[in-house]
Amino acid sequence: MLDLTITPEQQKIQQLARNFTAQHIIPVAREWDERGGFHEFILAENKKIGLNCMAVPVEYGGPGYDSVTQSLVAEEWGYGCVAFATTLCGNGLSSYPLAIAGTDEQKKLYYGRLVGGGMGGFALTEPGAGSDAGSCTTVAKLEGDEWVINGTKCFATTCGYASIMVVFASTDPDKGVKGLSAFIVEKEREGVLVGAEEHKMGIRSSNTVELRLKNVRIPKTHLLGKEGDGMKIAMKTLDMARPIVASMSVGAARRALDEAVQFAKTYLDVNGKPIGRHQAVAFKLADMATQVEAARQLVRNALRLKDIGVPYTKEAAMAKTFCTDTAMRVAAEAVELMGHYGYSKDSVVEKLMRDAKVTQIYEGTNQIQRIVISGLLLNS
Ligand code: CAA
Repeated sequence: MLDLTITPEQQKIQQLARNFTAQHIIPVAREWDERGGFHEFILAENKKIGLNCMAVPVEYGGPGYDSVTQSLVAEEWGYGCVAFATTLCGNGLSSYPLAIAGTDEQKKLYYGRLVGGGMGGFALTEPGAGSDAGSCTTVAKLEGDEWVINGTKCFATTCGYASIMVVFASTDPDKGVKGLSAFIVEKEREGVLVGAEEHKMGIRSSNTVELRLKNVRIPKTHLLGKEGDGMKIAMKTLDMARPIVASMSVGAARRALDEAVQFAKTYLDVNGKPIGRHQAVAFKLADMATQVEAARQLVRNALRLKDIGVPYTKEAAMAKTFCTDTAMRVAAEAVELMGHYGYSKDSVVEKLMRDAKVTQIYEGTNQIQRIVISGLLLNS
């Protein structure tokens, strides 16, 4: 259905992403989920239609799409498969630190790799620093004209395949959060080691790995911003990325709703009547549809604020929480409504339910989002 609240150009891009999802993601998503390996082929396919690094500005060879447009595309990818969407949106997440703090030279290097078809990675989380992002133990020491990085990152999305990454490390551990800094690290640097891959409940074909950094030497010029800017860069990056996760969750919720509606129209009760004719089922569908629409409007609101340049941290956290909770709830309701058919490994909704769970966890758990929202309410 045509969305008249977006511009004709945005409608065109939305349709492009919808067609791409129908052609390249939906037909193979189940197979890749079962296989569990990384769906690398999708990157080349996506590059062909020009959506591989949506956030990269035009002057650096990207399409430079606004945030609402990126969200429209993420929703379509999420409709097809949250694992594929996580991979395809990964270049956005990893490139945001460059938009926030990168110099022209750094942008040429980083964006150049992405535009050329490479993947970017974002390595913040550590075994002892997940929700408490500021307590990283990875360290970076300046030796002459080089930074030497040592430490271990975990749950690093797509870092097994990324050709360039933003890595967070402390340049002054005594300063805690204020000692955190952000660096550009190319994969081919000696000492960058990809460790074990996570075996996950959902988003099984998305690549999640441990990353070990052993005396990794990078030029002094690979520091993003100033020493100690790392926490602010990470938080601003997550402000930008959380509405994108929210958008892919809206896509997943919309898919679960569509599956449930289709089932309710065609599955017959003992009297030969479609179960959707029963008010108990129809009202459930109405509630699911209302939640999907509310979620979409919440994320659009956050991104419109961002695109006009006003603070949107609270709205981004609200959108992340509400949209991902909605995806989980609507997927679970679709499974319930479809009974055995929903619970079967052959159903789309059982995969949606497994995939939706991670959206409540990654890019800051929804408990962290509530800390952000309540902090802004209570401290303003
Ligand atoms: N924008 C700019 N600056 C910000 C900011 C924002 N949104 N939020 C915080 N800051 C600044 C603060 O102002 C402060 O600086 P000053 O002292 O100079 O004022 C500094 O950052 C530290 O802020 P806090 O004191 O609030 O930091 P904290 O240690 O209390 O932590 C937190 C706050 C919200 C809990 C934060 O640690 C957090 O967001 N944790 C979750 C981490 C996360 O989301 N990880 C996800 C990893 S990425 C991922 O999952 C991707 C993937 O795989 C797909």
